[in-house]
Amino acid sequence: MKVLRVPLSCPLVFLLLLTPAEGNYQVIGSHEPIVAVQGDDVILPCHVEPRVSMVRYTVEWSRPDLKPDPNDRLSRVEYVHLYRDSREVPDMKISSYVKRTALFTEGLIHGNISLKIINVTLEDRGRYKCFIPKLKGSTEQFSIVHLVVEPVSTNTSTTETPLQPRDLPTPKHTGGFSSPCIVMIVVSCILVIGVVIGVIICRLSAKNKSQGYLQSRCLTQVQIGSCCEQR
Ligand SMILES: *[C@@H]1O[C@H](CO)[C@@H](O)[C@H](O)[C@H]1NC(C)=O
Ligand SMILES: *[C@@H]1O[C@H](CO)[C@@H](O)[C@H](O)[C@H]1NC(C)=O
Ligand SMILES: *[C@@H]1O[C@H](CO)[C@@H](O)[C@H](O)[C@H]1NC(C)=O
Repeated sequence: MKVLRVPLSCPLVFLLLLTPAEGNYQVIGSHEPIVAVQGDDVILPCHVEPRVSMVRYTVEWSRPDLKPDPNDRLSRVEYVHLYRDSREVPDMKISSYVKRTALFTEGLIHGNISLKIINVTLEDRGRYKCFIPKLKGSTEQFSIVHLVVEPVSTNTSTTETPLQPRDLPTPKHTGGFSSPCIVMIVVSCILVIGVVIGVIICRLSAKNKSQGYLQSRCLTQVQIGSCCEQR
């Protein structure tokens, strides 16, 4: 048994020691969505750990949820920004991002592949993928960054206002829930007043007849009608 265990565990330990030494690269984006207002310039954060130069690597920024252009018969993959051979490759760029994106030249040297997008539009909102295809020994070759673009805040917002009245019926239902409460309060008030009046009438009639028995009987009875029957 001892003879069997030793040759099996040795290569495992050897592999575990070897893997981190090879460079456990990771592409790291942002867990938090990037929030911008229409017309803003934004930076979609993404970098490589450990920090090594990405200048000679291919860096792809794409929109994984965007369908290929139906007018393009070849239905080629299009990019928000493609960096290859130390420069931007504009051929396969999504037309709406032309002249609106940039990487940071200084950042690339230190593994920072963050993307700058200028003058964001509502169409820009969605998921972005930063991807380094040839990153050897990496556990994560890509990361997803979520961009949220809010419309320019105006009091007569055309996109947001239709949503708000749709949200309102729920509070209206709770408003409807309070009306039975009002009915309950009103009914109990009427009952209390009725009881008080009933007691007063009973006492008065009892005094008139000056009969202790009837008085005590009436006090225990709530309804005016039953008191009157006692006469
Ligand atoms: C990457 O570069 C951008 C632009 O200079 C900067 O805002 C960002 O903080 C950098 N990210 C990291 C992780 O260094
Ligand atoms: C920003 O984009 C909007 C619509 O896409 C355009 O009308 C406007 O001129 C642009 N602004 C700048 C500063 O480029
Ligand atoms: C929008 O609302 C703010 C307060 O919420 C007010 O101060 C401002 O004057 C309003 N602007 C317009 C254009 O109505």
